[in-house]
Amino acid sequence: MINPYIPEIAKIESIRKETLDINTYKLVFTKEKNFSYKPGQFVMVSVLGEGEFPAAIASSPTQKGYIELSVRKMGKVTTALHRLEENDVIGIRGPYGNSFPVEHWKNKNLLYIGGGIGLAPLRSLINYTLDERKNYNKLLLIYGARTQGDLVYKEELFKLEKSKDIEVKLAIDKHEEGWTRFVGFVPDYVLALKPSTKNAIAITCGPPIMIKLVIQNLLKLGFVQEQIYTTLEMRMKCGIGKCGRCNIGNIYVCKDGPVFTAKQLQELPEEY
Ligand SMILES: Cc1cc2nc3c(=O)[nH]c(=O)nc-3n(C[C@H](O)[C@H](O)[C@H](O)COP(=O)(O)OP(=O)(O)OC[C@H]3O[C@@H](n4cnc5c(N)ncnc54)[C@H](O)[C@@H]3O)c2cc1C
Ligand code: FES
Repeated sequence: MINPYIPEIAKIESIRKETLDINTYKLVFTKEKNFSYKPGQFVMVSVLGEGEFPAAIASSPTQKGYIELSVRKMGKVTTALHRLEENDVIGIRGPYGNSFPVEHWKNKNLLYIGGGIGLAPLRSLINYTLDERKNYNKLLLIYGARTQGDLVYKEELFKLEKSKDIEVKLAIDKHEEGWTRFVGFVPDYVLALKPSTKNAIAITCGPPIMIKLVIQNLLKLGFVQEQIYTTLEMRMKCGIGKCGRCNIGNIYVCKDGPVFTAKQLQELPEEY
């Protein structure tokens, strides 16, 4: 039997600095590997000799031959990753977890709501739906960060703002010189924009407090819980439902999630 804990080796082909503490890594597997995944899935990343951590896949499966991860420097292992350079190698296990049910969303209006690095898993979904544009109706992205310097994928977002395929609404928390877009918190921007609930699915990811308030405001606008999806971040170890590190009641976030509807979240025990 193949040991599920043995990672595949991937080379860091390029590193792009997104913010002071977030880098995007473009990774190529060193051995020919049929790595197929769906938007919303994650991988376990090992920095050799240091340990592992989970990270959302930030690239779209429609882009072949590589995967991208955007990682914030937090503690021991992510700091070790940030010390690595182009052409260094890391280990990748996965892909793991469920995914966004893109097949069921065909012909729907999709509303993506992101905050900070929470845009990483949404970026996989956004680029997937843009590459499969004919299958989806209106696409609207509302994305915010604390400051302009904290926005990830800036170049891509500014390009997308000019695209007819998606409407992009950007926000920062407080006014800054030269910023002509929305100033304020993402949940308030959602209320102000009043997106229609008709034939719509809202997908949100960001800091837990933002997710909570976004869900509250979507409900105020008339969305029902089944129309709202989010992806959760719990501490993980195995990623495959074996270690019991990520469970909430009898749900394992690593294999039953990380994607849940607001309805499913509401049914989870208090500890969430
Ligand atoms: C499904 C999933 C997808 C994720 N995707 C991304 C991503 O795309 N980009 C990214 O930068 N991070 C992502 N994370 C969070 C990332 O896994 C943690 O930042 C990382 O585990 C920290 O490891 P460390 O060894 O550097 O820090 P540690 O020394 O272990 O911890 C440093 C700090 O981070 C907190 N922390 C540790 N693990 C997690 C965790 N799993 N979730 C939230 N906080 C944590 C700790 O409480 C502590 O305050 C994801 C987590 C999950 C579960
Ligand atoms: S991370 Fe081990 S059970 Fe989920």
